[in-house]
Amino acid sequence: MSSPVRIASLLPETAPFTPEQRIWLDGLFAGLLALDGSITPLSAEDAAALLSGLPSSSPSPAPTEPEDDGAPWHDPALPLAERMKLAEGRPLPRRLMAAMAQQDCGQCGYNCADYSKALFLKKEERLNLCVPGGKETARMLKALYAEVGSAAPPAQPAIVARAPIETAEAAVAPAAEPTPEAKGSSRDHPVEASFLSRTRLNQEGSEKETYHVEFDLGGSGLDYAVGDSFGIFPRNDPGLVEAVIKTLDAPADFPIGGRAFRDVLTDGVSLGPAPDMLFQLFSYITGGERRQKAKALSAGSDPDGDAATIDVLAAIEKFPGIRPDPEAFIESLDPIQPRLYSISSSPKASNGRLSLTVDTVRYAVGERTRLGLASTYLADRIAPGDRLRCYIQKAHAFGLPADPSVPIIMIGPGTGIAPFRAFLQERKAIRAPGRNWLFFGHQRSACDFFYKDEVLGMRASGLLTRLTLAWSRDGDQKIYVQDRMRDVGRDLWGWIDAGAHVYVCGDAQRMAKDVERALVDVVAAHGARPIDQAIAFVAGLKKSGRYQTDVY
Ligand SMILES: Cc1cc2nc3c(=O)[nH]c(=O)nc-3n(C[C@H](O)[C@H](O)[C@H](O)COP(=O)(O)OP(=O)(O)OC[C@H]3O[C@@H](n4cnc5c(N)ncnc54)[C@H](O)[C@@H]3O)c2cc1C
Ligand SMILES: NC(=O)c1ccc[n+]([C@@H]2O[C@H](COP(=O)([O-])OP(=O)(O)OC[C@H]3O[C@@H](n4cnc5c(N)ncnc54)[C@H](OP(=O)(O)O)[C@@H]3O)[C@@H](O)[C@H]2O)c1
Repeated sequence: MSSPVRIASLLPETAPFTPEQRIWLDGLFAGLLALDGSITPLSAEDAAALLSGLPSSSPSPAPTEPEDDGAPWHDPALPLAERMKLAEGRPLPRRLMAAMAQQDCGQCGYNCADYSKALFLKKEERLNLCVPGGKETARMLKALYAEVGSAAPPAQPAIVARAPIETAEAAVAPAAEPTPEAKGSSRDHPVEASFLSRTRLNQEGSEKETYHVEFDLGGSGLDYAVGDSFGIFPRNDPGLVEAVIKTLDAPADFPIGGRAFRDVLTDGVSLGPAPDMLFQLFSYITGGERRQKAKALSAGSDPDGDAATIDVLAAIEKFPGIRPDPEAFIESLDPIQPRLYSISSSPKASNGRLSLTVDTVRYAVGERTRLGLASTYLADRIAPGDRLRCYIQKAHAFGLPADPSVPIIMIGPGTGIAPFRAFLQERKAIRAPGRNWLFFGHQRSACDFFYKDEVLGMRASGLLTRLTLAWSRDGDQKIYVQDRMRDVGRDLWGWIDAGAHVYVCGDAQRMAKDVERALVDVVAAHGARPIDQAIAFVAGLKKSGRYQTDVY
């Protein structure tokens, strides 16, 4: 009998390794074990000695993942190239994280750091879950994912067959029995609820189209808290589906996995931005210059300067006469991703209902109006009584203070008002004694004051202790919520100094950053601090959970 081989998956928990070092060692030993299946656990001393004996020029150094690196790329306002630059030289999970759109929006079912870890550990293999990052992120994740294998080799089936050895994955997140997820608690376990109604929130003259949308949760088993979001699975526009079928000249009833081509196009696949795989497919079935163009597009090049606007229909139109096999065509498209919306009702005030506040996305590209998938599904296509697949996405650190007497400051322009309507309903329902201050803003006071009667009623009743409004297109100069924050800075500081929690909801790209800057200015000016201390003060508010954001 040959001498036993030691495997790192039996490293004692006390061994002085980071999770990534464990992965690296696990991979090393998995390779060794392929030569000989017998096992002897390492002692902590042996393991440490082994690690210290590794040559420093080791070609595959154990990646370290310092959680205290400040994640400087964690900023949705930074372009991808800048985020990747900031993460250069960092361990793979951090670079994967930087490739994401950095909103911690939860649409992928994780926050950015956890999605990257799940990819790194091969617990998650879907590289296209980052909705805000779109194709750009999916491409970068694909490129980085190629490195995952070398950093953490997957368990080898031959080894698994010989002995119950932990995989690299299990070495990091040891053996917790997966608990079955409650129905309706994530995108992977949706349930059905009924659409009830939509009511336009803008008045005549508005440039916006925003709806208050209601659902009946009866029988769905869904349960939510204020601060949570609602995830919905939308369906494509039938007009767009028919245009795709017609342009491909394909039979609408062509069977695909027991369903008709038309049905799969309606609720199975995204007809949004054309994925690289679609162009790859085109490159296989076309020739000459067209093949070169399709290849270039599939590789992320932009031969005609229009790549950013090519959706699935535009891609087919760009290659007139192309006739892919319908099944291969469907295979090359991305599945429909659910969309999240901040819930704008409190369960304590809604009698089994749930509401959203949804801005409709429509814009023109050439002759065709492009439709935001989920927002126009809610605005145009779903009818009262229709059922839709949905789930509750629990808030990550976005919710009312546990102590109802704590004052709250809510800053939510546009649809950003949604969770604050819910907060206020909740505070009313539980008779919370804490003071409530709402900053709302939008384009025009005459036509974009969402929930005007309700909000003014809350102000009149005293539920809203203070209401501060900012209209960006009422006058010659744009007034934004952050301008109003500076105007009333002394009082704002007074509330913060008294322990208020501050909440921001709405646009992540510009507004959230500008609001944070204004808050720093207010703290500096009225809290009598130099700017660096004011920045540290706001960072402290965040850390202690007194500054929370729900931005998208
Ligand atoms: C946690 C969370 C909460 C959210 N809460 C809300 C909410 O309360 N209310 C709300 O309305 N939304 C909310 N959103 C946003 C929402 O999830 C969707 O992203 C939004 O409704 C658009 O989805 P869609 O499917 O309609 O559009 P999509 O089909 O996803 O299309 C949107 C894409 O179209 C492109 N686009 C949009 N406008 C233009 C333009 N003018 N020119 C060129 N390209 C353009 C952009 O690439 C954009 O990403 C939230 C998002 C998150 C993550
Ligand atoms: N992913 C998507 O497709 C999608 C879909 C819907 C919404 N969103 C995001 O969600 C945001 C919310 O949309 P919304 O309809 O609720 O309203 P919005 O477009 O954000 O507008 C709300 C108000 O905010 C103002 N504003 C613009 N820039 C600002 C800034 N830097 N700081 C503070 N206020 C600013 C607007 O003014 P002006 O317009 O007059 O400048 C308007 O008065 C959008 O901006 C968008 O980023 C994304």
